[in-house]
Amino acid sequence: MLKLGHISLDVPFFQASLSGYSDYAMRRMALDFGAPLTFAGVILAKSAAHPGVVEKPEFKPRDDEHPVGAQILGTEPHIMARAAKELARVGYDLIDLNFACPAPKVLRRGRGGYLLKEPEKVMAIFRRVREAVDCPVLMKLRIGFDKSEQSRENFLEIVSEASAAGVDALIIHGRSVQQRFRDTSDWEFLARLKNQFPKLTIIGGGDLFEAEIIAERMNSTGVDGVVIARGAVGNPWIFRHLRTVFDGRGPLEPPGIEEQGRVMLKHFELVSELYEAKKAIRYFRKFIVGYCKLHPERKRAQQGLLTANDRKELLAAVKKWYPVS
Ligand SMILES: Cc1cc2nc3c(=O)[nH]c(=O)nc-3n(C[C@H](O)[C@H](O)[C@H](O)COP(=O)(O)O)c2cc1C
Repeated sequence: MLKLGHISLDVPFFQASLSGYSDYAMRRMALDFGAPLTFAGVILAKSAAHPGVVEKPEFKPRDDEHPVGAQILGTEPHIMARAAKELARVGYDLIDLNFACPAPKVLRRGRGGYLLKEPEKVMAIFRRVREAVDCPVLMKLRIGFDKSEQSRENFLEIVSEASAAGVDALIIHGRSVQQRFRDTSDWEFLARLKNQFPKLTIIGGGDLFEAEIIAERMNSTGVDGVVIARGAVGNPWIFRHLRTVFDGRGPLEPPGIEEQGRVMLKHFELVSELYEAKKAIRYFRKFIVGYCKLHPERKRAQQGLLTANDRKELLAAVKKWYPVS
């Protein structure tokens, strides 16, 4: 249903790269709930180019999670190529090049979304990486650096050249870099782009939170697939719901409160295996906020869970707010 180079997915959606979130625990949850592919958070190419770094457990993919993608950020074609090679060597099945990140410190160093201003550099990086690895190579873009005519031209130059050079897919968030997360993702722009480049695999992204609306977006825009980002934080059910909607079996009821508690605990157990106790609790708080969105007493449950300072307190708080044994 969705082909990314030689990798075929049976459904046209997957879990996005989310820095500080899409570690093994989040990826495992997404896979268990039906995501056919997940991406690790972005890695600086300068770091990933070192064999010692990619071998570390926090970077190396696990045997039970294929296919899984890595994403790299950087400016130097030869370093990006070396990083891609190392990541493929330790087991990543796809490489995605980040030309989208809008974080000020990334832009100041000329990385991520800044490179949308430099189509030649983007293409030099792509070609070098393409030569270095056999696996599918994707690019993550935003729809321009800003809304200027020059940005629009640069963006179209990148899309057109990447398409000619054999990029396996473009993942495009329908906002400009300057917009960061303001306004809404421009799906009409993505629809026009797909119309202009019918043979190119275009994965759309931005503001995808509800399975039925997501399926409708895909149908109305003609994009080949969609990527789920914030909509999956503390909400692995989104993938189960998407599968159901894409199978034409209609929307599912939201998970019951007992299941919510059980799934949150499972996620916390996975997180606890990755980090030492104090870090695990602190890190898991951002997922708690997501999980609590489904709770009928959202604010109070969230408050109760967020004040937990250690594992014992968290388990007690989950028991208090969810009927889990
Ligand atoms: C906390 C956070 C971390 C993100 N990290 C990455 C990243 O590492 N690489 C990337 O390409 N995009 C990253 N993104 C962008 C998302 O992948 C996605 O393109 C964006 O959130 C739009 O989709 P959404 O509106 O459905 O969340 C991040 C977004 C957020 C909110």
